[in-house]
Amino acid sequence: MQRYALPAILLHWLVALLIIGAFTLGVIMTDIPGLTPTKLKYYSWHKWAGVTVLLFAALRLLWRLLNTAPDYAEAMPAWQRWAAHGTHALLYLLMFAVPVSGYFYTLAAGVPVVFFGIVELPVLIGPDPVLKTTLKALHYWLNMLMAAGVLLHVAAALKHQFIDRHPIMRRMLP
Ligand code: HEM
Repeated sequence: MQRYALPAILLHWLVALLIIGAFTLGVIMTDIPGLTPTKLKYYSWHKWAGVTVLLFAALRLLWRLLNTAPDYAEAMPAWQRWAAHGTHALLYLLMFAVPVSGYFYTLAAGVPVVFFGIVELPVLIGPDPVLKTTLKALHYWLNMLMAAGVLLHVAAALKHQFIDRHPIMRRMLP
């Protein structure tokens, strides 16, 4: 059984944890009524986790382009290979599109992004109320698409592992 290399495995699980954390915080923070210190704190943590996803996603993509992924078992039908490759490509795209939409939404709302409260990130656009509304909806819907993609990805991994009894999950474990 071929496995992914250790850097790919570490980046996979790190990005997965950060995405789950940012997603959960995003849902919780937007549900808090009013403008409380806790809400502001969660917004900051959310943005820092999201920018970190973007940085690690860039590293992941670079690693993936410079290395080859282990091949699937001979017996795996062609449509399943295509489905897996398609889902992976979609998830790579969303690892960038979700944080970038959140970043530009924040800038369009006239708020600078200060990474970990220390480094002010480039203010690439000014405040724009129309763009703000569009980017807020875009950030939301890209998140819903990503949630669907992640569920499909996890369901496929579990099906291969436990129903078809192909030990596929070992490929992504050290
Ligand atoms: C993988 C990274 C990210 C994930 C998974 C994510 C997820 C989410 C989710 C689920 C929501 C709640 C949407 C809703 O219910 O309305 C949200 C809202 C938000 N996100 Fe993100 N986000 C990410 C990155 C970012 C980044 C990098 C920023 C900015 C630097 C950002 C800024 C915001 C803001 C300001 C809101 C609040 C929108 C509102 O006011 O309703 N997000 N995000």
